[in-house]
Amino acid sequence: MDTEKAMLKRVIALGQMMTEMKDTDMLMERILTEARKLSNCDAGSIYKCEGKELLFSYTQNDTQQKALPLGKKLLYSTFRMPIDEKSIAGFAAYHNATLNIDDVYKLDKSLPYSFNPTFDLQTDYHTGSMLTIPMKTTSGKVIGVLQLINALDADGKVIAFNEEELPFIHYFANTAAVALERADMTRHIILRMISMAELRDPKETGAHVNRVGAYSAEIYEAWAQKHEIPETDLQHNKDLLRVAAMLHDVGKVGIADAILKKPGKLSDEEYDTMKTHPYIGALLFNDSASELDTMSQEIAIGHHERWDGCGYPGYISMTDGKPLPDKTLPNGRALGKAGEEAPLWARIVAIADVYDALSSRRSYKEPWTQDDVFAELERSAGSQFDPELIEVFLSIRETVEGVRQKYPDAEDR
Ligand SMILES: [Fe+2]
Ligand SMILES: [Fe+2]
Repeated sequence: MDTEKAMLKRVIALGQMMTEMKDTDMLMERILTEARKLSNCDAGSIYKCEGKELLFSYTQNDTQQKALPLGKKLLYSTFRMPIDEKSIAGFAAYHNATLNIDDVYKLDKSLPYSFNPTFDLQTDYHTGSMLTIPMKTTSGKVIGVLQLINALDADGKVIAFNEEELPFIHYFANTAAVALERADMTRHIILRMISMAELRDPKETGAHVNRVGAYSAEIYEAWAQKHEIPETDLQHNKDLLRVAAMLHDVGKVGIADAILKKPGKLSDEEYDTMKTHPYIGALLFNDSASELDTMSQEIAIGHHERWDGCGYPGYISMTDGKPLPDKTLPNGRALGKAGEEAPLWARIVAIADVYDALSSRRSYKEPWTQDDVFAELERSAGSQFDPELIEVFLSIRETVEGVRQKYPDAEDR
């Protein structure tokens, strides 16, 4: 009974923590980590319902993770499958039913669903026990499926999932569903805001901002690990940054079409107008009601500053966007924010944004090769970019390239 009480307490605390999270990717990572801890299992995946399909959205696998060098992340590709009775996850979503399977290779042939061994065959992994749970919100809607794989005993041997723990896992899955639905909504609202800006500036696409958000989160995580930032702070900041980084260029909504959409080179005057977008963006978050607002503001205003102090807008007044009197250079411009005068978040997003711009096709240029992009960033360490962050960025190259594949541009899809 005591263990049950402890488990219930834990599940309730987790629910509270999950409702505080903003970003859907971060939340999925947390949901799966915690569900796997609760049931002590080796691997798992989250599928999200999208219309009549399930989208394989996130996965973890301890055995495979341990085979990778330290700090490297497991790469995986997303795929879709129909919500029907043929697959295990599909069946769970279709019938809103939990399937607790002791051995997927010994499923009764008379069952409508069967186990797809493709993943095992491709990776040499062996799937044994599998617990598949629909994720249901308070309104009863199934928004996804949580699949846990290979429960382990104390010696690390694969065993069946414990029936007695099911009520807790169910409760957890449903709390997670509510949190995930809300985080998805936040992501949608932001993407809709971005698509407003995108109508005006074709460079700022949903895919671009999603990538910049994801790269930024990865850079921060690697930096924070290096600096031994406590895990709770790391997760909290990474979650906020994933969302705030997406909003780096929202200030472009305030720039005239004639400038944003101009095909050729901008005149000096037009370029000066363009350079007001960090200030306009920062104004949107000026009433700073939350931590997310503050971070979004720091990123909006700081993502074009440079490590050597030659970036913009520099030290300006938030009231009128003009250079601060004591920070005005002889040429009338504001003194730039050099080094760590620009906040960490902004220095991270600066790298993510430029990396993505160079890697992507634009109307005026072809995408650069990854080798060229990384070489260019390395060259700009200490001048344009924070050298330590560039070092961190280079060390997570594979993860970064994995993110690129997750959010392809519409024309490359
Ligand atoms: Fe910008
Ligand atoms: Fe951008």
